[in-house]
Amino acid sequence: MATNQDLDPVALRRAFGVFPTGVVALVGAVDGVPVGLAASSFTTVSIDPPLVSVSVAHTSKTWPDLRRARHLGVTVLADHHGDLCRQLSGPVAERFDGIDLTVDDDGAVTLVEGLVRFSCSLYREVEAGDHVIVLLKVESVDQAGPAGDGNPLVFHRSGFGRLERSA
Ligand SMILES: Cc1cc2nc3c(=O)[nH]c(=O)nc-3n(C[C@H](O)[C@H](O)[C@H](O)COP(=O)(O)O)c2cc1C
Repeated sequence: MATNQDLDPVALRRAFGVFPTGVVALVGAVDGVPVGLAASSFTTVSIDPPLVSVSVAHTSKTWPDLRRARHLGVTVLADHHGDLCRQLSGPVAERFDGIDLTVDDDGAVTLVEGLVRFSCSLYREVEAGDHVIVLLKVESVDQAGPAGDGNPLVFHRSGFGRLERSA
């Protein structure tokens, strides 16, 4: 039987963590410098117009800067990117150390090794509790990268995993 105690933040986080997701790098160039973070809240939203979303916590120090980027890059991380993902969520000064980045003409920054890379414009921001739902319009997509055929990083129960495909 469910109780209100199941809705305390720790229990809720544990319950939400049962749902597996992928992880993306959300990165833009702000004043010529890459700014971004790792996000597991990425969701595809609409085909026409082409929309995706990411929910960003109000506590994010990066989002107020990142939202100023002309275009934002969304890179779907591959299954060997666990450490890279932690780096992208860690101290800002080291966030992009040693990571191979591409910047397109509109300033969207993506990771060369990503499975698929979207260049997006900011479509809308929707306040949602302690997060803001960031709706992004996909302006271009590139899945021809070197890792295009690889498997995604999976985030589940606060840890990283891999897809196991059934036959
Ligand atoms: C696997 C993983 C998934 C994450 N997903 C999100 C997310 O969806 N939304 C979010 O706001 N932060 C997410 N974070 C945290 C951010 O990557 C980052 O650490 C946080 O925004 C604090 O950094 P900032 O203050 O520079 O924004 C995630 C971190 C990890 C490791």
